[in-house]
Amino acid sequence: MKLTVIGTGYLGATHAICMAELGHEVLGVDISPERINALNSGEVPFHEPGLAAKLTRNLADGRLSFTTDTAEAACFADVHFLTVGTPQHSEGRSADLSQVHSAVTALVRDLDGDHLIIGKSTVPVGTAADLQRMVDQLVGPGTSVEIAWNPEFLREGHAVKDTLHPDRIVLGVAPGGTAENRIREVYARTLDEGTPFLLTDLATAELVKGAANAFLATKISFINAIAEICERSGADVTQLADALGYDTRIGRRFLGAGLGFGGGCLPKDIRAFASRAEQLGATGIPGLLDHVDRINLGQRQSVIDTVTASFDDGDVAGHRVTVLGAAFKPDSDDIRDSPALVIAGSLARSGARVVVHDPQAMDGARRILPEITYTSTALDALKDAEVVVLATEWREFIELDPVVARSLVRRALIIDGRNCLPAQDWVDAGWDYRGIGRSR
Ligand code: UGA
Repeated sequence: MKLTVIGTGYLGATHAICMAELGHEVLGVDISPERINALNSGEVPFHEPGLAAKLTRNLADGRLSFTTDTAEAACFADVHFLTVGTPQHSEGRSADLSQVHSAVTALVRDLDGDHLIIGKSTVPVGTAADLQRMVDQLVGPGTSVEIAWNPEFLREGHAVKDTLHPDRIVLGVAPGGTAENRIREVYARTLDEGTPFLLTDLATAELVKGAANAFLATKISFINAIAEICERSGADVTQLADALGYDTRIGRRFLGAGLGFGGGCLPKDIRAFASRAEQLGATGIPGLLDHVDRINLGQRQSVIDTVTASFDDGDVAGHRVTVLGAAFKPDSDDIRDSPALVIAGSLARSGARVVVHDPQAMDGARRILPEITYTSTALDALKDAEVVVLATEWREFIELDPVVARSLVRRALIIDGRNCLPAQDWVDAGWDYRGIGRSR
């Protein structure tokens, strides 16, 4: 099939490359010439394992190309995926839909004949129906555009697998909509693997995505709230989560207590979801998610407080603090709303001499926190540290030798913000080890 993918951020670039990988002819579109040039020359503008090889192969095979020209996209195909960003509004908690509106308006202007626009971006419920009304007014005579919604559930760091082999495919269509057959054709290879396919109305498809992220965020804040009780009672949240996880109704995943969730999705999505629920007059979700958000932000503050309280005078000014990690999670160079950088930035503003190392995210970190020192290895970052905060669970941090690490620091205090280190080994090497919700 011939497909376009409008918006080549994390979601769009991955989707375009993976659709080509499925054998389709794909044109990716973006307003940023730098991004398009990078993609056309085989460079993935972010760190995502496995994606670069697929980009290079599909460019070489001639199945994939990228352009800034929306008119070209309008002629190229009659199926268009919409994958632009929906960031948090600069004022308030709701989603900023300006990229959605401008991308659709630009595309629709040049369409001729019958077209299908399949939204993948995370949007407030009601957006697809609004877009349908908007395009109906914009299209010329003889042209029809159907809007359908196919939410995306990919995780950064696992984006290729999540796109090619998703847990499920959800498609929302308007009454009388005809998108189902074309979507089944797009995903034929994935559906052949037995991937569940759920056909819903537009509102349900939009809500599935928001609800999924809200549930994941709630799970993380739930275990972090339990971690607080564990800390106060001498219990161990990791063992507790293991025990909960054996209950298949609960499951162990996303019960990792620690610094909580960050990134470009969960934080802004729960705020937009709560905001839209409030607009609709729903009362349960806004209160619940406000609390989830507050618990989550509290985890960062609590580590900042622990670092501060570890100094006799209760002041970090002038002290050497090392933060291991800058990305919001491992296998990603994404620093959006990263707990690691919130902690590093806050301690630096309080006068601490903060040193950071991250295997992938240092360029981005340097751009937003230039006042911090960055080192090219984790061991260099540890030199002379008085407190070490492990903020992102990269494998190379988990595998650090605590004896070697001990020989580098000035004071052997480590705060394991992701409960990922072998605690006893660190204690045996002479460290004051503090996990989150863990007696050890
Ligand atoms: C999230 C969802 O998991 C995807 O399904 C969704 O498609 C995506 O948002 C999106 O909306 O586009 P992602 O932001 O890549 O994906 O990251 P996650 O793997 O969900 O992790 C989010 C945050 O939660 C990270 O900061 C991670 O460190 C934290 N986390 C995760 C915990 O604190 N504890 C856990 O047990 C698990």
